[in-house]
Amino acid sequence: MERIIIAAVAENNVIGKDGEIPWHIPEDLKHFKEKTTGHPVIMGRKTFESLPEDYRPLPSRTNIVLTKSGIDREDIRVAESLEEAYSIAEEIDDKAFIIGGASVYKQALPDADRMVLTEVHREVDGDTYFPEFDEEKWREIEREEHEGFDFVTYSR
Ligand SMILES: NC(=O)c1ccc[n+]([C@@H]2O[C@H](COP(=O)([O-])OP(=O)(O)OC[C@H]3O[C@@H](n4cnc5c(N)ncnc54)[C@H](OP(=O)(O)O)[C@@H]3O)[C@@H](O)[C@H]2O)c1
Repeated sequence: MERIIIAAVAENNVIGKDGEIPWHIPEDLKHFKEKTTGHPVIMGRKTFESLPEDYRPLPSRTNIVLTKSGIDREDIRVAESLEEAYSIAEEIDDKAFIIGGASVYKQALPDADRMVLTEVHREVDGDTYFPEFDEEKWREIEREEHEGFDFVTYSR
């Protein structure tokens, strides 16, 4: 199964502030929806809680939420480890999207096959960061340029 990280990242690596995403880019939300719809999405409990109520769980995607807190909801799958999340996803599809937050990106990065990053062309004030990655180990295979941001795909 292909493990794909998808994130929107500012120039200073910020991805979040006060439990939210500190910008509003409608084209990025559309891009995220297009990429992930129909596929399992793996996220941390805080990211799940940060989703707007109407999009929690994210529709048309199996939402796999990492937590040790024992959440019990019928509309999501809960995993207590990243490996458990991957084995749930593997039963459903041949690709899974890792959708954050910072703690989950950090754990998923060493074994991820691809990264789909929205590179936001500004520095943003925040408290949560995308992990550092070794650019030597990743190859840019696609870049779509937009006003203020690019959609970039990296592969191993
Ligand atoms: N810009 C972007 O693309 C983007 C995307 C997603 C999120 N974000 C932002 O990122 C921030 C949230 O990130 P975060 O790092 O604070 O939180 P997070 O990764 O979303 O959630 C952390 C929680 O996930 C659970 N967890 C993580 N790893 C686990 C594991 N291996 N096993 C079991 N449970 C595990 C734990 O839940 P329990 O405490 O319940 O055990 C942990 O407290 C928010 O600001 C959000 O808006 C940005």
